[in-house]
Amino acid sequence: MSDEYFEYKGILFSSRALAVKDLEFVENEFQVHDCDVFNVTYPKSGTMWMMELLSLIYTNGDPTWCKAVPSWERVPWIEVPAIRKVIQKNNCPRLFTTHLPRSHFCKSFSGSKAKVIYTARDPRDALVSLYHFAKMSVFFEDPGSFPQFLKKYLSGDLVYGSWFDHIKGWMEMMGNDNFLLNTYEDLQKDLRGSVVRICTFLGKELDERALDSVVENASFKTMSKNSVANVNLLSEEYTEHGKSPFLRKGVSGDWKNHLTVPQSKYFDCIYKEKMKDFNYKFPWDE
Ligand code: A3P
Repeated sequence: MSDEYFEYKGILFSSRALAVKDLEFVENEFQVHDCDVFNVTYPKSGTMWMMELLSLIYTNGDPTWCKAVPSWERVPWIEVPAIRKVIQKNNCPRLFTTHLPRSHFCKSFSGSKAKVIYTARDPRDALVSLYHFAKMSVFFEDPGSFPQFLKKYLSGDLVYGSWFDHIKGWMEMMGNDNFLLNTYEDLQKDLRGSVVRICTFLGKELDERALDSVVENASFKTMSKNSVANVNLLSEEYTEHGKSPFLRKGVSGDWKNHLTVPQSKYFDCIYKEKMKDFNYKFPWDE
């Protein structure tokens, strides 16, 4: 393991982003409120997109907040230490983001009415997106060649662990009233319909104009131009923007431009094996 990473309860984390005490705090001390909303994702599955959607939904489509305040302050990561400042504020709802696996999530969540929106993405597209992100982010070690990275991804030897374990862990909540499964592919296919579904889940009613504004302001085009949404504001200390933009392509199926036919077959084989006892059909399974 490189010095840049440490292991906590079987999962790798970046020492540049957080420490063991932050993970212990989230798991054992963080007090979940019933009105909390958690945006949960495996990395590169549409986290920022959901941050933007939640911010816009809770401002009834008014983009002022999104244009003035960075996304990581609007819908902060619970595992990142700066969150303690936000916890002091007794907002209702409090909006949070996390990449944590279910096994590392707050104990105080059990039995609460807090809501989780889990956004999943075709793991092949998340892989490609992560490969490019790892080149520009200090939170990941250099990904090496694509074939090397593919192997690591499939073995789960990465920050936040395995895609397979992550999704299977969180999907155990499927069917609970406070859990909504969303996919990147659904957002792509029908953003407006997805926003309506998310609003219903959150108990938020938006009129047609507010809905139009959410859809417009959470589009790839608008977010790419909004530097407080697209992490261009993050200093060079954390990202090398020249290597790859954060909002890179914003499409589904880019994996076809990266995986060779044998790599894709190998991926399918591992996917089938790891998901064999899992009966849910995702958009990418069709
Ligand atoms: P690509 O690298 O495939 O372009 P995360 O926020 O979880 O890190 O995910 C980042 C991925 O979501 C990137 O994928 C990014 O372009 C995509 N994304 C973010 N906002 C988006 C939007 N409004 N529309 C489409 N894709 C978006």
